[in-house]
Amino acid sequence: MDGTAGDVTAYITSRDLDPAKMPAHVAIIMDGNGRWATSRGKNRLLGHTQGYHTLKQIVYESNRLGLTCITVYAFSTENWRRSGEEVGGLMALMLGAMQAEIEELIQTGIRVRVSGRLTELPADLREELQSATTRTEHLPGLIFNLAINYGGRAEVVDAVRAICKKVADGVLSEEDVTEGLIHDHLYSPDLPDPDLLIRTAGELRLSNFLLWETAYSEIYVTPVCWPDFDPDTLVQAIADFQKRTRKFGTVVEETIP
Ligand code: IPE
Ligand code: IPE
Ligand code: MG
Repeated sequence: MDGTAGDVTAYITSRDLDPAKMPAHVAIIMDGNGRWATSRGKNRLLGHTQGYHTLKQIVYESNRLGLTCITVYAFSTENWRRSGEEVGGLMALMLGAMQAEIEELIQTGIRVRVSGRLTELPADLREELQSATTRTEHLPGLIFNLAINYGGRAEVVDAVRAICKKVADGVLSEEDVTEGLIHDHLYSPDLPDPDLLIRTAGELRLSNFLLWETAYSEIYVTPVCWPDFDPDTLVQAIADFQKRTRKFGTVVEETIP
């Protein structure tokens, strides 16, 4: 197995999935919007708009499949390096999307959450995201966690800073610093670590996504660009995940296929 989509041979539908082996948390690097657009001679922003329609389908499918949580990488701390037109277009798209979708998300029972340095976002987007989080926090369905202005290194830095402050204030001592304590100071300590990490558009890298939380995630990379990803492809990724043997450092007896 090389961890890529080519490993799946038979076509599988959601009815074929094993309910006892569903991943609780699926994290997705939604990559390839730009390539999808430029290969069609279109502006990159059209790829992002198309990616929004894909995301909508995937959120509702994830809820239908009974996943506890999905975390989607929407904007990284490094994505500010793109042109002003693209960054501005992405901010406007995220604001418009949240405004357009919030009522249906509430009706479906989906909880909106956000991970990232929100203080650096435009005020209107930040307020819309905070409002969506508050309005949905009591709901029973899928946790839809948006990683916006998110960086795995920034998240660890923010956790370390918060811990240092507590040590300086005498609330904690150096000996209290454990993996569990660092975990408790990350952006979303109540969420389980991702069981499955999906990356679209073929790149074999993490691009600063969930560096701490993906320590034991199973990785699935598909060549499909995010605008062409669909619920069927999600099901194929989960089916592939269900065939994996997770070891967490222990020895598990396996038969050679
Ligand atoms: C991912 O698609 C979306 C964001 C990073 C916001 P890209 O825009 O990175 O698409 P490619 O990688 O250039 O094709
Ligand atoms: C990761 O994709 C960020 C998001 C999907 C939001 P990038 O396109 O920014 O990653 P690199 O630059 O190819 O590593
Ligand atoms: Mg990219």
